[in-house]
Amino acid sequence: MPMIELSRSDDVATIRDLSIETFTQTFAALNTPEDMDKYVADHLSPDVIRREIDDPDSTFLVATVDGAPAGYMKVNVGDAQTEKMTHGHMEVQRLYLLKAFKRHGLGTGLMRAAFDMARAQGKTRIWLGVWEHNDPAIAFYERFGFTRIGSHDFVLGEDRQTDLLMEAVVPAQE
Ligand SMILES: CC(C)(COP(=O)(O)OP(=O)(O)OC[C@H]1O[C@@H](n2cnc3c(N)ncnc32)[C@H](O)[C@@H]1OP(=O)(O)O)[C@@H](O)C(=O)NCCC(=O)NCCS
Repeated sequence: MPMIELSRSDDVATIRDLSIETFTQTFAALNTPEDMDKYVADHLSPDVIRREIDDPDSTFLVATVDGAPAGYMKVNVGDAQTEKMTHGHMEVQRLYLLKAFKRHGLGTGLMRAAFDMARAQGKTRIWLGVWEHNDPAIAFYERFGFTRIGSHDFVLGEDRQTDLLMEAVVPAQE
């Protein structure tokens, strides 16, 4: 059995490599190289990732399989949330697995960890944005009770796209 671990990470290189590789695997075929490059330069530079890691209201969890990074999740509370939400909310801003590790339950493990963190911090709702055409991810989120509450713009390079906003209630007890 492979050894799976989910742990907090503050390592810029690990998070940046995972961020760029998973973002590319997920979206490169659907966007221009120029828009992809601009997104990576603007949002996934070492400086931006360092600032995100240093923000006490953001947490990165990295999933490893037999010691190798397989995916990650970024959650935000308070003012680190990318939309104005209450202090009772937690945002799952990014949840990405490398292609080879999809559909092995790691996403479920990371999402359960988000619910555990939210509960431990007294949060009652988790919310997230997901590209309106990302049907596999939407199906995954619906399994956790996420329902649509609205939409917001997501700019990928120069391309303005629509993200659905989804929210789920954090049950008081597991
Ligand atoms: C979406 C994602 C996080 C799900 O994580 P995962 O580890 O692959 O999913 P799990 O193995 O935990 O799947 C749990 C259940 O979710 C549903 N699900 C997961 N992937 C699915 C897919 N591609 N299509 C339909 N349902 C899916 C299934 O019901 C699945 O249960 P099953 O495998 O027993 O049928 C992952 O596939 C991923 O990183 N995708 C690419 C990046 C991405 O789109 N991230 C979201 C950006 S908002």
